[in-house]
Amino acid sequence: MRNLFLFLVCLMASMTLNARQTSVEVSTDNTSLIMIVDQVGALRTAYYGVKGPQPSDFVRGTSATRSAYGGQDMAYSTQGGTNAHEPALKVRYADGYMNTELYYESHETSQQDGCTVTKVLLKDPVTALEVTLVYEAFTKEDVIRAHAEILNGGKKQVELLNFYSSHLSLNADRYLLTSFHGEWGGEMQVESELLGHGRRVIEATQVTQATERANPSFILSLDTEKFDENNGNVIAGSLAWSGNFSLSFQVDEWETLNILAGINPSLSSVNLSKGESFCTPDMIWTFSSQGVGQASRNLHDYARNYGIYQAWRHTPTLLNSWEGAYFDFNTAVIKGMIDDTAEMGLEMFVLDDGWFGTEYPRDNAKQGLGDWEVNTKKLPEGIDYLAQYAHDKGIKFGIWIEPEMVNPRSRLAQEHPEWVVRSPGRETPKYRNQWSLDLSNPKVQDFVFGVFDGVMKLSDKIDYIKWDCNKTIMSFGSDYLGQEQNEFCVRYVQGFYAVMERIRQKYPDVMIQCCSSGGGRVEYGALKYFNEFWTSDNTDGLSRAKIQYGTGLIFPAQVIGSHVSAVPNHQTGNVVPLKFRFDMASSGRLGMELQPKNMSQEDREFAKRAIASYDRFRDLVFDGDLYRIDSPYESDFSTLMYVSKDKKKAVLFAFCLERQHRHKFQYFPLKGLDPSLKYHIEELNVDNSKCADAGHTLTGALLVNRGLEHRMVKKYTSSVFLFTAE
Ligand code: DGJ
Repeated sequence: MRNLFLFLVCLMASMTLNARQTSVEVSTDNTSLIMIVDQVGALRTAYYGVKGPQPSDFVRGTSATRSAYGGQDMAYSTQGGTNAHEPALKVRYADGYMNTELYYESHETSQQDGCTVTKVLLKDPVTALEVTLVYEAFTKEDVIRAHAEILNGGKKQVELLNFYSSHLSLNADRYLLTSFHGEWGGEMQVESELLGHGRRVIEATQVTQATERANPSFILSLDTEKFDENNGNVIAGSLAWSGNFSLSFQVDEWETLNILAGINPSLSSVNLSKGESFCTPDMIWTFSSQGVGQASRNLHDYARNYGIYQAWRHTPTLLNSWEGAYFDFNTAVIKGMIDDTAEMGLEMFVLDDGWFGTEYPRDNAKQGLGDWEVNTKKLPEGIDYLAQYAHDKGIKFGIWIEPEMVNPRSRLAQEHPEWVVRSPGRETPKYRNQWSLDLSNPKVQDFVFGVFDGVMKLSDKIDYIKWDCNKTIMSFGSDYLGQEQNEFCVRYVQGFYAVMERIRQKYPDVMIQCCSSGGGRVEYGALKYFNEFWTSDNTDGLSRAKIQYGTGLIFPAQVIGSHVSAVPNHQTGNVVPLKFRFDMASSGRLGMELQPKNMSQEDREFAKRAIASYDRFRDLVFDGDLYRIDSPYESDFSTLMYVSKDKKKAVLFAFCLERQHRHKFQYFPLKGLDPSLKYHIEELNVDNSKCADAGHTLTGALLVNRGLEHRMVKKYTSSVFLFTAE
C-alpha cells in the first residue's frame, strides 16, 4: 500500500515537473545556491558558488548507481528512502517507524530590506510531516542564512531525533576544514585539517559555556590544501545557537561532502504533538571566490548590518574593575577607579563581580550568587551614588551580573532548590562553587528577567550590563520538565532567548556584554541581543594575538572586547610591554582592566596617549574592512589592518611575536588600499618612528606591491600606523 502510494506520488511529481525542471535559486550579488527537484520530486542541492550557472545547466538527478547507494545531494536529508548519510532530519513516529521522505511541494520568494527570502515547502506524503526550508539571502553581503521549520501534520506525537538547521552538499577534490578549538583563557584557537572519508564532527555537548572548547563556526577551503587569505573558493559558516551544537562533515565515496549544521542531536530531542512545529536556529553561510579574507569580510558586513544587536553603536572604551580589584573594594576604591577612568580619557567604568549579597556577601566566589541586593557593608551609598558619580565625571556606568547561576550558599538556593538544574537522587555537581538555574522553567525565566530588571532599577544611570555565565550545565535535569527531560537542552536555550527578548523590549538601549568565563558564548545567537563579547579571560597581549585572530575570522572587531591589564599577566605570568598590550587591545574594542593607582606616571601618560589615538581610528576598527597580512600561526608577526569602505583611511597593527633576524629588511605588503591613491603615513603612540616610510606620502600601489618598510627586530615590539589618503 505504502509503495503504491509512493509510486503514485512520484508519478504525479514527474508529471507536474513536465519538460521544465523545477528549481529553486537563492542568490546574492556574487553567489548562488541552486537546488533542483529530481525525477521523483526530491529536492537536491546542485550548486553553491560564484553566481553565473543557471538551474538549466544541471541535469536532472544523479546517476542510478549513486542513487542506489544513497549518495544523493539532498537539500535536507532525512532518515529514510535511499539516503545512506547521517540525516538532517530523523524522526520517530508514534508507531515506532523512523522513515521520513520529503518531496517538493512549492516555493515562494519575497523581498525584504536588503534580503530575499525563499521558502521551500517539502512534505512527506505518508507521515504528513512538513518541512519548510527558509533561505534569507543578504544580497550585498553575499550571505545566505538558512533554517528549517518542521511541522507535525500527522495525527499523533512524533519525536525529532535529528533536527539540523541546514544541510549543504558540495563536490570538490579536496576540503580543507578550518575550525576553532579552545579552553578557558585560550578560546578560538585555529586548526586546519584535510577532510578524509567518513565523518568529522565539531560539537559542543554543553548548553552553557558551549563555545569555550569549540565554536559553531568553520571555514572550508575548496580544492586546496592551503589556508589562503586572498585566493580560492571558500565557504564559511556559523550557527546562531547559544547551546549544544553539532557541525557534521561527511565525505562519502563519491567525494561529496555533506555538511549538517544545527543543534546537537546527541543531547536532546524534540517532541512535536499534532499540529506543532519546531523552528531550528539560523545557520549563516557565505561563499567567497577570493579566499578566506573575503569570507570573513562578508560575515563581518552581515554581522554589522543584521547580526549584532544595535551594531551601529560604538561600545565605549572602558575600565573594568575585575583584575584591578577583584572582590576587594569599597566605595572609595570604586570612586578612585572612576576618577582614573575619566582622567585617562576612557568613556565608561564597569563594576564587576562582588557588589551584592548581604546575608551571604559576595566577598569571594563561594557565596552570594542569586542574592542580587547591594552589599551595603561594602557600598553603603549604593549603586545609584556610584553611577551618578561616574555620570558627573562625564563617563558612563556599567555593572556585572550572573543571573543564570546560584551559589548553594545563598538565600535563593535555600528558598528555591527546585529552580536548580539537578537530577533526582544524585548529587548536583558544582563548578566554581555554583549551580545552574533551570531556564527551561518559566518561573526561573521570570526570576532571571527580574534580576536584570531589578539591577536596572538600582539606578537610572546604568548604561551597560556585563552578563556573565561561569559554569557549564552538568548532570542536567529539570524539576519543571517532568517527562520531557529529553528537551532540556533546547528548552534551556529557548528560555534564555525568551528572557533576552523581554529584556530587549523593556531595555532596548542598554548595552549588554556577553561574557561566559570569557569566550564561552561567542556565537551569533547571542549577538541578536548583545552588543559585544568578553572575548577571553586571558588578557595577556601575546595570547590575545591568537585568540583575537581566530575570533576575527568569524566575528567583526567591534564585538571583540579587549582589555589592557597589568603585568605580570594574571593568567599567564607573561610580562609584555605596555605599548604592545595597548596596541593589541586597540585592534578590538579597547578597554583597561587593572588598578590605575598601581601604574607609574610614565605608564599612565602613555595610556592617555594611546586612548586618545584610539579615537582617531576607532571608526576603522568598528566599521572598516579587515585584511589579515600575517597570521600568528604562520609568521613571527601578527599583522592586520582595517580599511574604510571608501579606501581613504586605514589603520595597520603590526606585532612582533618572535624575531631573530636583526639585519633583514622587513616589508609588510598591505592590502585593501587603492593603488591609485596616495596615502600619508603616520605611526601612532611613538615619539620617533623607526619606520622608514612614516611621515611620507606614498602611493597605494607601492604599499600594496612592495609594502611598508618597517624593521621590527625585537620580540614584543608593536606598531600602529594610520594611512590617510590625500
Ligand atoms: C568571569 C569573567 O570572565 C570575568 O571577566 C569576571 O567577570 C569574573 N567572571 C567575575 O566573577
